[in-house]
Amino acid sequence: MNIRQRNKPHEPLSGKISIPGDKSISHRAIIFSSMAIGVSRIDGLLESDDIISTISCMKKLGARISKRKDGIWEVSGVGVGGFSEPENIIDLGNSGTSARLISGAVCTSPIKCFFTGDDSLRKRPMDRIIDPLTNFGADFVAREKSLLPICILGANDPVGIDFTGKVASAQVKSAILIAGLNAIGETRYIESVHTRDHTERMLSTFGAEVEISQLTDSKCINIKGLAQLGSQEISIPGDPSSAAFPMCAALMVNGSEITIPNICQNPTRIGLQETLCEMGADISVENKRIYGGEPVADLSVRFGPLRGVSVPPERAPSMIDEYPILAILASTAEGKTVMKGIKELRVKESDRIKAVSDGLRQNGIEIEETEDSLTVFGKPGLISGGSLVKTYYDHRIAMSFLCLDLVAKEPVRVDSLSSINTSFKEFLSSMKKIGAKFD
Ligand code: S3P
Repeated sequence: MNIRQRNKPHEPLSGKISIPGDKSISHRAIIFSSMAIGVSRIDGLLESDDIISTISCMKKLGARISKRKDGIWEVSGVGVGGFSEPENIIDLGNSGTSARLISGAVCTSPIKCFFTGDDSLRKRPMDRIIDPLTNFGADFVAREKSLLPICILGANDPVGIDFTGKVASAQVKSAILIAGLNAIGETRYIESVHTRDHTERMLSTFGAEVEISQLTDSKCINIKGLAQLGSQEISIPGDPSSAAFPMCAALMVNGSEITIPNICQNPTRIGLQETLCEMGADISVENKRIYGGEPVADLSVRFGPLRGVSVPPERAPSMIDEYPILAILASTAEGKTVMKGIKELRVKESDRIKAVSDGLRQNGIEIEETEDSLTVFGKPGLISGGSLVKTYYDHRIAMSFLCLDLVAKEPVRVDSLSSINTSFKEFLSSMKKIGAKFD
């Protein structure tokens, strides 16, 4: 029976949960295969709404993409510079990664493209990519404050650029490096805070000449233009940002013990795991290996007492999407958890600082918010709950508060579930398999 008895703590979560493919790596696999010559094959592709947006956009730009009966995706690419002009405006739904990376991909091709997105994506900042991409010789027409819809007039004779990142963003870095593939000469991107490096890793595999050098306080990534990408066989590991939900749920629900196989352990993605270990979490990282050019491992997570911590701001890029679920978990840890340097959370799929603090406060948890920080005052045991949480159609807010429900005396409800399809369609059914009881 899958009905929760609210007068008792939730029964322990147990068993193995499988996590779908990494979202960031899946976007890149589709985009780079579409820019390669020949047929690439992708195993373990995430089939969520965001990735469907990237697939459908790449098809409109000329790539041929289909799923085989055995689950492998085949992408027949058009070659670097081979995109054809789409016939209509392209709607990228909720996907910021599609909007930013694909803008980079098309802006050094002599075509015009019109992009738009859903209510959330049309509010997200695009000046961070429009400003650097204009330096390649492309022109952009956007709404007031550089918001979508945008029109990109791709450069006829793009020339490589030198750019120093102003925001710690892998999407901006990737947009610039991808644009550099079809430019004359070299493109250099300097980042002072390390962000996820899936673009650099995967582009090298596809045959691009990518050089990375360590400067005194920063890293320089150099990519050679007029590149030729060759088709690849790609395997995609499980997404640590999706694994974060069952991981934190198991750490909150008394007596739980779960395993989560095949999770990407790229050092630029495991900030949450580091933070959880500092909180005293019992997490074993087993069978470390390389899979699809990325480090992966199997994780075992056991419930145990946790203490609040101060998360260093420089860790933010390596756990940027995990702050909402960390804030939920922190509400059941002993003492204060401080998260500083997180102002980027204000411009994600929703204003996540606001969504998290409103939702936690409504459910009886003491929380303080500033422009760029969150402080949660945690207490072990059950939280009061009983409130309906506004998710702003943000998948990570919805999944975070569903996890909070597992330790609430009164149901914690969310106003919409459909956003979960953005990244983790199987979330509810997979969580139920390890014993989660949602009302
Ligand atoms: C992503 C980078 C991050 C992250 C997003 C995916 C990527 O965004 O929040 O979900 O795939 O490059 P920023 O690079 O803008 O921080």
